[in-house]
Amino acid sequence: MPEMVSIQDIAAHLGKEITLRGWIADHTDKGRLHFLRFRDGTGFIQAVVFEKDVSPETFSAAKKLTQESSVILTGTPRADARAPGGFELSVKTIEIVQIAQDYPISPKEHGVEFLMEHRHLWLRSPRQHAILRVRATIIKAIRDWLDQNGFTLVDTPILTPAAVEGTTTLFETEYFGAPAYLAQSGQLYNEADIMALGKVYCFGPTFRAEKSKTRRHLTEFWMVEPEWAFGNLEDYMNVAEQFVSYIVQTVLRDRAAEMKTIERDVAKLENIAPPFPRISYTDAVDLLKQKGFPDFNWGDDFGAPHETVISESFDKPVFVHHYPTDMKAFYMERDAHNPKVCLSADLLAAEGYGEIIGGGQRSADLNYLAAQIAKHKLPRAAYEWYLDLRKYGTVPHCGFGLGVERTVAWICKLDHVRETIAFPRMLEKIYP
Ligand code: 4AD
Ligand code: MG
Repeated sequence: MPEMVSIQDIAAHLGKEITLRGWIADHTDKGRLHFLRFRDGTGFIQAVVFEKDVSPETFSAAKKLTQESSVILTGTPRADARAPGGFELSVKTIEIVQIAQDYPISPKEHGVEFLMEHRHLWLRSPRQHAILRVRATIIKAIRDWLDQNGFTLVDTPILTPAAVEGTTTLFETEYFGAPAYLAQSGQLYNEADIMALGKVYCFGPTFRAEKSKTRRHLTEFWMVEPEWAFGNLEDYMNVAEQFVSYIVQTVLRDRAAEMKTIERDVAKLENIAPPFPRISYTDAVDLLKQKGFPDFNWGDDFGAPHETVISESFDKPVFVHHYPTDMKAFYMERDAHNPKVCLSADLLAAEGYGEIIGGGQRSADLNYLAAQIAKHKLPRAAYEWYLDLRKYGTVPHCGFGLGVERTVAWICKLDHVRETIAFPRMLEKIYP
């Protein structure tokens, strides 16, 4: 049996007989010649079955192949500039694993509603395949950068007794007769973990019962959250710009073919390197007033159209810092000179993509936090452990959370986060 290889390694096997295992993405019958667009999970290749080169059994097997039939091919690959992908396989034998039934997704255009209902099959298309490979590389880059820069991974719980980012988006569940909530963020646990380990990160699914139907919101999304002791707002922005630049440059290096498949113009990503521009919330409000939002008031939250205008004003991601204290979560440290604003910053991605990171410096002050918990009407008992952290060796500290799906959407330049994860969870959408 010839050596089993993957399409992604095909260049090392030109001129030698090999075996490929996978599926028929498309089949064109030209009489004595059959063109098979074949995929194996690592890539796509054009396979040709020429009547005069194969046995009658192989030729009749080729004729039967429907879209998505699973097969094992043997044949010889060679470089061919005319073939999509640059290589072509001259098929010698075909072993049919299954002849697929009529496949619902044909190469013609389909509406997105239909494709989302068939997400379990849509994943097989070249574009979705490429996006998922970029996503995997983004996640690997995230882990590599943090692991190489002194952060220890500490997993945080998903079942939790209390809110982090406010009570309005909590998914409630029942925990042996008492209410519990799916984690909105691992941050509060990270704050305990840094007092043991210095620099940590958690990385897992987080949940928001968002009632908003936007192109940026999922109800279940993946967030990486680095947190460290003895860090301030400035430190956070310095770390985050290094981190995001590394992620982007890793994708450009390792996923060039996939970026081409999704037709992403990478020119705008090539210049993503520190330093990133930084403007205060107050200056961002002035910018909005000049750029089409004359009635925007200081203290209002940015919606998607506002974020888009701000981010389109810069050619790199931009930090907006010192948000109004009342706009942000209870744990944010206040500015010592102006307590109306806090030591928070969001990173808005370039090209109009809006917020991909939220973070800042946490209050180290026991009395202030106790007052904030009361002010935000949070149940004090569920936060006693968190307040303990301010009793036993409290230190200034900071951290941030980067949403994986919004990062994928920006780097791949996608219209909607629904294509950034294999099985998105959105308002009124849990199938498949
Ligand atoms: O700004 P957020 O809510 O910040 C936090 O949760 C902090 N506790 C993080 C921290 O400081 N450790 O969320 C952080 C990021 C957002 O910038 C966004 O990228 C993503 O998480 N995110 C969402 N992504 C998809 N759908 C949603 N509903 C999201 N909500 C937040
Ligand atoms: Mg935020």
